[in-house]
Amino acid sequence: MDNNKILIFDTTLRDGEQSPGASMNIAEKIQIALQLEKLNVDIIEAGFAAASPGDFDAIAKIADVVNNSRVCSLARAVDSDIKAAGEAIQKAKMNRIHTFIATSPIHMEYKLKMTPDEVIKRAVKAVTYARTFVDDVEFSLEDAGRSEMSFMKEITQAVIEAGAKTINLPDTVGYRLPTEIYNMVKEMVDFCEDKAIISLHNHNDLGLAVANTLAGIQAGARQVECTINGLGERAGNAAMEEVVMTLKTRKDFFAKNDKIFDTNINTKEIYTASRLVATITGIEPQPNKAIVGKNAFAHESGIHQDGVLKHQETYEIMKPEDIGIEQNNSIVLGKHSGRAAFRDKLNTLGFDDINDKELNIAFDRFKILCDKKKDILDDDIRMIITDEKLNVEKIYELISLQLSDFSGGIPSAVVSIKYDGKVIVDAAIGNGTVDAVFKTIDRITGFNGKLLEYQVNSVTEGKDALAKVICKVSFEGELPTIGHGLNIDTMLASARAYVSALNSYLSLK
Ligand code: KIV
Ligand code: ZN
Repeated sequence: MDNNKILIFDTTLRDGEQSPGASMNIAEKIQIALQLEKLNVDIIEAGFAAASPGDFDAIAKIADVVNNSRVCSLARAVDSDIKAAGEAIQKAKMNRIHTFIATSPIHMEYKLKMTPDEVIKRAVKAVTYARTFVDDVEFSLEDAGRSEMSFMKEITQAVIEAGAKTINLPDTVGYRLPTEIYNMVKEMVDFCEDKAIISLHNHNDLGLAVANTLAGIQAGARQVECTINGLGERAGNAAMEEVVMTLKTRKDFFAKNDKIFDTNINTKEIYTASRLVATITGIEPQPNKAIVGKNAFAHESGIHQDGVLKHQETYEIMKPEDIGIEQNNSIVLGKHSGRAAFRDKLNTLGFDDINDKELNIAFDRFKILCDKKKDILDDDIRMIITDEKLNVEKIYELISLQLSDFSGGIPSAVVSIKYDGKVIVDAAIGNGTVDAVFKTIDRITGFNGKLLEYQVNSVTEGKDALAKVICKVSFEGELPTIGHGLNIDTMLASARAYVSALNSYLSLK
């Protein structure tokens, strides 16, 4: 292996999905996996196969469609987990099982209730069994950040002998500081020599996940685990875009013996990946989030604006184009644009994998939008395509919506929905228009939804901007699903989002 190549292990679909409220359905996970492949991620942790039949199916489908990234499943160090992981990733062109057990005194004593010797035996058994499914096995010392070095070395030696090729050292609770991570990684790299790749997995509880990851790279870690937008359990994981762009922007700093630390990531796909993950999970990066936040390249102060206009590098250390943001979100097409120009635009926006059927549907939606909105921007087109891709499941299809609401009156809605080839129409009143619309949909479908979250955002600026609605709904008291709706009319977008959440719920059943 090229000794200065940093492997990017993306766990957006596993640790990222453990972010509160970030559960995704299979179609959504596949969309993200395909985007991760476009990014050129080395390893995609597609999920935790033993967690649920839905997780297993999602991993198996991702294993089937992804060609150029290694597909991995997480597994606890127990036979049933490893078997599920091995079977789920079986079809992948390149695969990996990632098995783990906790190694810190506090976890071994209170959580596992196992002695260190028992932990080593379990780890060796797990790795040995995992190797019967795949050649590539990663072993994680959960809570390595709070584990004792002598024990870490002992268990690491044992699992390497059993066949583990990557040793991952998670700072599971985000406790460590960069110098401590540097020292831990250095000692483990020296200990392992070239028998295994040392990997890092840093949580962000103290806001140090990226700094710790970079310190680990300096100490010799050659795989880093991270997520898009820094999603993940609690305060999240190291944000991939921050790690990758730091290595790219500060090549000078990270050079060793004149060799530059590099990743395989196609940074021009970062912005699309970030938008897709934010849209699917409904978790928007904070506006001032490094690299992908709304304000990351915005200059408010006159002095800064003046400087950037005179010479970009006065106040910008990276270019927006580096992460795939087109300069000035240019006005693109109009109502006279044809299908060929539309397809051409999609290609330049990175949607080159779209089939003819998807193109036709998107083109019709684009034409309808042209009649209502003056300037169609790249972000509008991007959202139309994303919305289509996320709403493939159409068990119930919203046909029309009619509202009556006036100050002091009783809001009511008439909704028509297509189900099983028939159009069903019904009406209801509510405490507000949103309430009336959602109640009517419940009446038509017979499913009772509890609205847990409702977000409205505009895709671009302007009074005529497209509204993007995300609803998180729990149907029949079960785990919530997320629905997406896009329309120039906010209430229509809301109705679509609610129906989309229901379709997502039904597709998981
Ligand atoms: O944070 C952690 O320790 C993990 C392991 C399962 C790798 O996510
Ligand atoms: Zn984690």
